[in-house]
Amino acid sequence: MGARVVRAGAGSVPAVHAAVLHEYGVPRYDAFEDPVAGEGQVVVEVTATGLNPVDVSKAAGTFYAGKPPLPSIAGQEGVGRVGETDRRVYFDRPIAPYGSMAQRALVDPGSLMELPDGLDDGVAVALGVAGLAAWLALDWRAELRAGETVLVLGATGTVGQIAVQGAKLLGAGRVVAAGRNEQALRRAAELGADATVALDRGGDALTAAFRDAAGGDIDVVIDPLWGAPAAAALGALGVGGRLIQIGQSAGAEASIPSWVLRGRIAEIRGHTNFLAPDEVRRDAYRTMAEHAAAGRISVDIERFALRDVARAWERQRAGAHCKLVLVP
Ligand SMILES: NC(=O)c1ccc[n+]([C@@H]2O[C@H](COP(=O)([O-])OP(=O)(O)OC[C@H]3O[C@@H](n4cnc5c(N)ncnc54)[C@H](OP(=O)(O)O)[C@@H]3O)[C@@H](O)[C@H]2O)c1
Repeated sequence: MGARVVRAGAGSVPAVHAAVLHEYGVPRYDAFEDPVAGEGQVVVEVTATGLNPVDVSKAAGTFYAGKPPLPSIAGQEGVGRVGETDRRVYFDRPIAPYGSMAQRALVDPGSLMELPDGLDDGVAVALGVAGLAAWLALDWRAELRAGETVLVLGATGTVGQIAVQGAKLLGAGRVVAAGRNEQALRRAAELGADATVALDRGGDALTAAFRDAAGGDIDVVIDPLWGAPAAAALGALGVGGRLIQIGQSAGAEASIPSWVLRGRIAEIRGHTNFLAPDEVRRDAYRTMAEHAAAGRISVDIERFALRDVARAWERQRAGAHCKLVLVP
């Protein structure tokens, strides 16, 4: 692989400041060898980078798709300028051992998405991993139809916050937001949810609360949680209902009685951004960026200097209820 941490006194080796993973756990602010673009690669001068739950589990060495190499730079997504040009882009396929949490990132050019003028760096990051999960789950995986009722689980997180607004923009008739944090749930209502449900109970009582808030059957569930909330939400689906499974913030397992699927010919559909074709991702990102630029999608953002990466990590692990953005 060749790239490495640059030690003090290493002389002329060009280096970048970065969030470097030396061992599985939390990355450290350190110097790392400067990336050089090879064939089919580009270097992006990073202006903002997002911290996501997936970064925490990758850094911990517990991500289902495998462990990152050591040492390596953390981070999956960022925005910046391509090389020396003025071309402003979003990217989410950094090439290991380089990640996005650095002054410069080595990137697969296939993942680049153009940014419209005036779109804030932090918002542009939020529309990436989190925004795409919300929008693609609704549009590409659920194939949401006008007038349908949508339940957004984890509406208190960034994916959920964007899913609430995205569901409305994509024509949902009624949107129900569910989560544990009261203040963040009120924010989901401000952002357009027609009703909210506190995830403070489980089982049939939670299913009944979902149905009450929806005014009947639910057509689409956006599920970043799994566990007990997803099981209860499946019980509230109507005929032909779809639950789109995108994360496991509430638990890796759920107990699902077979009748909830069979009796309503309902479906659980998985989603990961990284299996969406590039043109589908680009269309979704462009549409969200237009909505954001016009003020129809808002995202709450908290910024940290990259050197404070350890503090940002703590904030993410404790539950930030906003998008955490690191600025190199
Ligand atoms: N499939 C994909 O491509 C994809 C892409 C992006 C994200 N994701 C996944 O989607 C999930 C949400 O991502 P995010 O960016 O929105 O993260 P986030 O902003 O950190 O939000 C996390 C959400 O999980 C909720 N939560 C945490 N622990 C919980 C528990 N024990 N029970 C119930 N709710 C719990 C939080 O709500 P409260 O604090 O109110 O409990 C919050 O709504 C993560 O699992 C992430 O890995 C998947």
